Amino acid sequence: MTSQAVKIQGVQHYFGSGNLRKQVLFDNQLQIEPGEIVIMTGPSGSGKTTLLTLIGTLRSVQEGSLEVLGQQLLGATDDDRIALRRRIGFIFQAHNLFESLTAFQNVKMALDLFDFSPEEVSSRIRELLTRLGLGNRIDFKPASLSGGQKQRVAVARGLVHRPKLILADEPTAALDEKSGREVVTMFQEFAEQEGAAILLVTHDNRILDVADRIVRMVDGRIKSNVLVQESRIICEFLKDVPVFSKLTPRTLTDMADKMFLEAFPPGATVIRQGDAGDKFYLIREGRVKVEVERDGNVRQVAELSKGSFFGEAALINHEPRNASVVAVSDLQVYTLGPEDFQRSLDASATLEEEVRKVLFERQ
Ligand SMILES: Nc1ncnc2c1ncn2[C@@H]1O[C@H](COP(=O)(O)OP(=O)(O)O)[C@@H](O)[C@H]1O
Ligand SMILES: [Mg+2]
Repeated sequence: MTSQAVKIQGVQHYFGSGNLRKQVLFDNQLQIEPGEIVIMTGPSGSGKTTLLTLIGTLRSVQEGSLEVLGQQLLGATDDDRIALRRRIGFIFQAHNLFESLTAFQNVKMALDLFDFSPEEVSSRIRELLTRLGLGNRIDFKPASLSGGQKQRVAVARGLVHRPKLILADEPTAALDEKSGREVVTMFQEFAEQEGAAILLVTHDNRILDVADRIVRMVDGRIKSNVLVQESRIICEFLKDVPVFSKLTPRTLTDMADKMFLEAFPPGATVIRQGDAGDKFYLIREGRVKVEVERDGNVRQVAELSKGSFFGEAALINHEPRNASVVAVSDLQVYTLGPEDFQRSLDASATLEEEVRKVLFERQ
């Protein structure tokens, strides 16, 4: 049993078969802790909904490991999936309300699988719909509700059974600012009070502030994965590192948003001499030693600590790694992929100049 609400490792996904088989998810990793609110953004068609439906057991996992609330979904039986689904709340864009049922009855469907007393059912539904501003619409059918009202019924239906995992696809897109805020405030309460984990696909900038973490999906790959407070911490941190200190807040924020946090135990090799360069590293915590091997002799050339960076040389010169870097204590680093690193250099002449200066001094 894992303690994470969601643990995704190496998940790939394909649509179609034969010549038409098309890969839409590539080697994704993601973990969500209980009580955590994760927002996923990314362009249309990048694979967000596909990933969400895999997590929600609405699609079968083809490749990779996907654990949801302790249940491994790769190879899970239908019974496993059905049992798990009761602990998940879904709020999808196409809200699929039953036209012949009232708001109350639509929400009630989510409770039909449970043994609540009629009083409990009624009070939960009324309370939730009232909070969502639908107190005077409880017995209305979808046809007499506006788009935003229908969306709020769908939100109530997704939350009424107090799920431990909430999956929401653009839940606030059809809502005005006030109802959108009410919905995300409820998400926050579920996260805090019930320890629910929440994965929210959205482009709604108005609600980014509720996220503990923002991940970005591009072309089927999760491209960045950073704590929101972390993003601020990175900015603060970068400002104090001489090489970044002259950057504009804009460039700093852009860089911070694209960085991943990675951890290594003492003794772990972070980069290996001779390998191709694939990342830029900035030390958040801990120390590393830099070693160069020549003619079979290994020589330590530097020890770096908090605020130092490494890995820039291979990216700038497009050459293999010219040294190995080994963690000497528990190490946390921020990493930046080559394109994002290059983009940051392009965005800022001062950064490029500063990085090159350090590079020159090191060689
Ligand atoms: N049922 C399906 N059959 C075939 N291709 C699909 C299906 N659903 C989605 N896709 C394709 O998979 C890719 C990812 O889609 P989707 O997960 O809906 O992206 P997003 O939610 O980020 O807009 C797109 O190229 C889309 O055309
Ligand atoms: Mg989608």
